[in-house]
Amino acid sequence: MERITPILIEHFDAEPTVTMCAQAVDALEAGSILLLPYLSFKLLAEETQFLTAQAVEPKRKNVSYDWRLQKTKGDSYIGELHQKLQQLLARYANQANILVNSLFPHYTKSIQLARTSYRPVEAFDRTNLSNRKDDRLLHTDAFPASPTQGWRILRVFSNINLNREPRVWRVGENFEKVAARFLPHLKTKNSLVRHLLNSVNITRGLQTNYDAAMLQLHDLMKKDQAYQDDPLNQMIELPAETTWLVFTDQVPHAVISGQFCLEQTFYLPVQAMTYPERSPLKILERLMNKPLV
Ligand code: SIN
Ligand code: FE
Repeated sequence: MERITPILIEHFDAEPTVTMCAQAVDALEAGSILLLPYLSFKLLAEETQFLTAQAVEPKRKNVSYDWRLQKTKGDSYIGELHQKLQQLLARYANQANILVNSLFPHYTKSIQLARTSYRPVEAFDRTNLSNRKDDRLLHTDAFPASPTQGWRILRVFSNINLNREPRVWRVGENFEKVAARFLPHLKTKNSLVRHLLNSVNITRGLQTNYDAAMLQLHDLMKKDQAYQDDPLNQMIELPAETTWLVFTDQVPHAVISGQFCLEQTFYLPVQAMTYPERSPLKILERLMNKPLV
């Protein structure tokens, strides 16, 4: 499996051919990063003022937009500028949604559009992060407060850097290899505690055995220096003014450097996949020989 698969689409509302869609879904679900080298998200002239690390509140790294509430959090603007930045994020959410629905027509009926983020801080410089929160370390995505209960995490990224600076990632080997490597270290989590966390709303929804396993994998990967240094990991450049799509719950990734990136998250049920057996849920269930949700 190639770590990067180029897809030659030039517009967010392009109408890809059936063949292109089939190739895209096959590569994506196999754990490849789909790189759209000719697809750039264009800022309006007046929006280039947001290309500054000062766009976020001090000590934060992302601005986050919730399309359901139509609210933006984490930016340093008020009034009209806050509204303008929100419009940019809303436009990105809309464009990314159009792209995903046209490239993966089979996902349309069940995919959920989630948060949008803007990442204006140089990733290389981030300081004072605990290992667990440091995305410069290789990991697969799993978030303590947001159990997915097996749903997939699909993310669309656009590098909006206008100084030709790529976003540099390191990517690891496929999910099955990572899972097999760390599986012997997974501990069973107390289900009483997990129900309690849910009932007092510490987690948004119940943390299933799948979520507990994914969270542990995330932490174990970040803590293991030998894994981080594995020569089979590859450095990749995601060029300025391009877009890429990836299942971040499946592909081990670390951000090494880069500034000014937009990201749109989607959640997808495993049953909606073309090849559900390639999902982290089905892989873990097979390796552990038991149901996890
Ligand atoms: C991550 O999802 O771990 C970071 C990716 C990025 O900001 O490029
Ligand atoms: Fe991540």
